Amino acid sequence: MSETAETIALSANELGGVGSSRFVRACLRQPVDRTPVWFLRQAGRYMPEYMAVRKHHSLLEICRTPAIAAEVTITAAERLGVDAAIIFADLLLPFTPMGVDFEFVAGEGPQVRTPVRTLTHVEALQTDRVGELGYVGESISRVVSHFSAPRADGDQLGIIGFCGAPFTLASYMIEGGSSRNYIHTKKMMYASGVSGGVDSTAWPLLMEKLVEVLAEFATQQVEGGADVVQIFDSWAGALSVEDYREFCLGPTTELVKRVQALGVPVIYFGVDTASLLPAMRETGADVIGLDWRTPLAEGWKAVGPGCAVQGNLDPIALFAPEEVLKARVAEVLRQAAGRNGHIFNLGHGIVPETPVENVIRVVEWVKEMSRR
Ligand code: CP3
Repeated sequence: MSETAETIALSANELGGVGSSRFVRACLRQPVDRTPVWFLRQAGRYMPEYMAVRKHHSLLEICRTPAIAAEVTITAAERLGVDAAIIFADLLLPFTPMGVDFEFVAGEGPQVRTPVRTLTHVEALQTDRVGELGYVGESISRVVSHFSAPRADGDQLGIIGFCGAPFTLASYMIEGGSSRNYIHTKKMMYASGVSGGVDSTAWPLLMEKLVEVLAEFATQQVEGGADVVQIFDSWAGALSVEDYREFCLGPTTELVKRVQALGVPVIYFGVDTASLLPAMRETGADVIGLDWRTPLAEGWKAVGPGCAVQGNLDPIALFAPEEVLKARVAEVLRQAAGRNGHIFNLGHGIVPETPVENVIRVVEWVKEMSRR
């Protein structure tokens, strides 16, 4: 190494670069002193501190106000003692600058006013207003400065930015909300199989536009200081392996590559993905998030060597009696067997009624049980 390169490498470490965070090291399958731990939806409705903020602000107000989004993110990470903080935001935020109006309806989840169903709708989607999402990058900057000093154990907290995967976002746009059978989404996908047919170009154009917007959104978050980007393909499990490969693997791979080109590792997570894992791995993501249905060792085997995994305690195990919960945590760690490249997490998000003290216990157990 030349002297200059050496100096640069050294200062990257001193500045809190890759080497100083066990979470980022695990994403890159480097050795760690113990398994890093954080939780999907760690700053959510199960937490009284979040509900206190939520009393005065809507979900979207919290997301769009960097001081509040940062506070919610920081409070959850500190209360739980986790190794990484995911920025408080939502998958659907990019809909607004694309021209898709939506709202969160209490008890029913997101609702899109005019679902995107035809080529004309897709053509009308805007891709030149992504700058309007700058508030997420700004929230991240605030979290980064709060956690700029190493913690008591010398480790730097990891900061996670995130966005949706093209399929999962497309499904919300097309269905207009949550869905059971994804009929409209699949109709648009299948129409692209008939060359020259009505709306045959709608799906590929939608994928192209989403990848462009999401890559730019992720860029803003990395510029704000995110160490890692997680791509949520929450509903990929609705697809057969063949459909995933034919209609989604290409655009998702493109997104993963564009985010990795920014110099950060990518975590790619989906739910109900047992049969999709080998195809998901082909996106080239650094880490695959495993859902709770697949035993971790089996999931890791399906993902194959050369890739880290994140997961995968059943979030409902957080309601179990202490000794049962402890045994489940031990089992996840046993299956990971101390291999490099495991990040402890749930196999999906924390649900609203979860006892906070159980979440904190899990963090403590992972810290004790996984020490090398
Ligand atoms: O702590 C964190 O994890 C960060 C915050 C976060 C939120 N949404 C805030 C939120 C994250 C990472 C997301 C991602 C997200 N948003 C996903 C992927 C995660 C997954 O579970 O697979 C999805 C599918 C969405 C879309 C979305 N947002 C839905 C379907 C809902 C309604 C859920 C419900 O139970 O009502 C939301 C709302 C939402 N986003 C909440 C939170 C904390 C809860 C609602 C609220 O506070 O009013």
